[in-house]
Amino acid sequence: MRIVILGSGGREHALSYRLAMEHNVSQINVIPGNPGMMYSSDKIKSISIPIIKPEFHDLCSKMKELQIDLVIVGPEQPLADGVSNALEKNGISVLGPSKDAARLESSKVFAKKFMKTVSIPTAKYEEFNNCEKALDALQLWDVENKGIVIKASSLAGGKGVVVTHSRSLAQKTIFDFLENPECTVNTKELILEEMLYGKEVSAFGLLDGNNFIMLGYACDHKRLLDDDKGPNTGGMGCYSSHEWPSIDQRTFIEEQIIQQTLIGMKEQGMPYKGFLFVGLMIDESKKNNNGIKVIEYNVRFGDPEAQTLLPLVLGRMSDAFLAAAKGELKESHTPLALSSKSSIHIVMTSGGYPSIDGTPMSLGHQITYSKNLLPTRPLQEKQLFFAGVKSTETGLINTGGRVLGMTVLADTLDNAKENAYLEIEKISFKDAFYRKDIGRGIHDYD
Ligand code: AMP
Ligand code: GLY
Repeated sequence: MRIVILGSGGREHALSYRLAMEHNVSQINVIPGNPGMMYSSDKIKSISIPIIKPEFHDLCSKMKELQIDLVIVGPEQPLADGVSNALEKNGISVLGPSKDAARLESSKVFAKKFMKTVSIPTAKYEEFNNCEKALDALQLWDVENKGIVIKASSLAGGKGVVVTHSRSLAQKTIFDFLENPECTVNTKELILEEMLYGKEVSAFGLLDGNNFIMLGYACDHKRLLDDDKGPNTGGMGCYSSHEWPSIDQRTFIEEQIIQQTLIGMKEQGMPYKGFLFVGLMIDESKKNNNGIKVIEYNVRFGDPEAQTLLPLVLGRMSDAFLAAAKGELKESHTPLALSSKSSIHIVMTSGGYPSIDGTPMSLGHQITYSKNLLPTRPLQEKQLFFAGVKSTETGLINTGGRVLGMTVLADTLDNAKENAYLEIEKISFKDAFYRKDIGRGIHDYD
């Protein structure tokens, strides 16, 4: 099987190494990829092709020329731009939803309406495309006591959600999102949403339009600093443990949320195919719907959730992914098993990341690491994934915000955590930064 993966980060490294180790996979081209990925397997090669919407001509013709069997789309933007539609029109199998179905992530207004229509539990909300009306409506919200969440409807690269108890920040955010030309979030609509309380977890499914299989559950740490302080980032680390969520909670999520999403999307004429990443809040003090509500949908795998979960997946992943792309999950008889081990992933960033105010990050430094950490098989206990790196004559240097990440598997989360910190301390580059408390959440729940 010849596979192409779109993307360049740690998520795409995790996907490519895991697929490369399967005997039936002969070649993996990552567009554009990063040089750290190539060390995992000589089947993995980076290629550079312009990815230009809406026709994606260059991409489609290259896929035909290379006789690619399956394209897997890593990030959300090409999906929102219709890359799956273009590839399918050219007869190329693609794992990733159509432009219409990708609105589950690219339009929060669409996602909320969808959940309301098919009775999927989610936070109460109001939608607005007019600043004055939104500010008027805000007066009726008990912001100071109950809090409020303001969300730009469109894709915003992690900058489109503000969670606050401050009325003045809520007012400023509404103005910035809808009226301020200098605000980098570009949206015509926003939603005001009830603030949910509880514990967050994300569920990952592989959907083929009619059926699905689960790829596991993970909790990420989005804030830069320990104790969930500091600015939001793309994700500073993540963990997965069979201890959480419980079997009952998983059953509810799979039957009442993933299955109902699959059925609802099909009934609305846009069958969903690809990875589905559902962000959830669980309030264990509530009985109704097991206290579970959907915070958001994403139409792709998470980064760093992929680096946490994919090393735990056993079975022929390439067959399952191709079957999902072709709508044949049920017929393909390619069950994927999930290891009962726990897994933790710690991200190492460049100094100055996430540089929200544009201050330059500390880049261009030599990375010191042991090559025997590079992933070569599933369930390998220690796996190093690269993201923002460049190759030079003397080795890899850091060129991006999130530079690399270390995944460690163990029988318990505590052991995984201890070993992950022992390993990450051995990796270094100038001004490198990582959080010291990844995995802390699970025991806070007891
Ligand atoms: P999103 O971009 O939708 O993932 O939101 C980013 C983060 O904001 C989530 O991971 C939550 O931590 C938080 N968040 C979003 N919506 C809510 C909500 N209704 N209540 C509480 N926190 C929320
Ligand atoms: N880790 C969150 C995301 O991939 O969106």
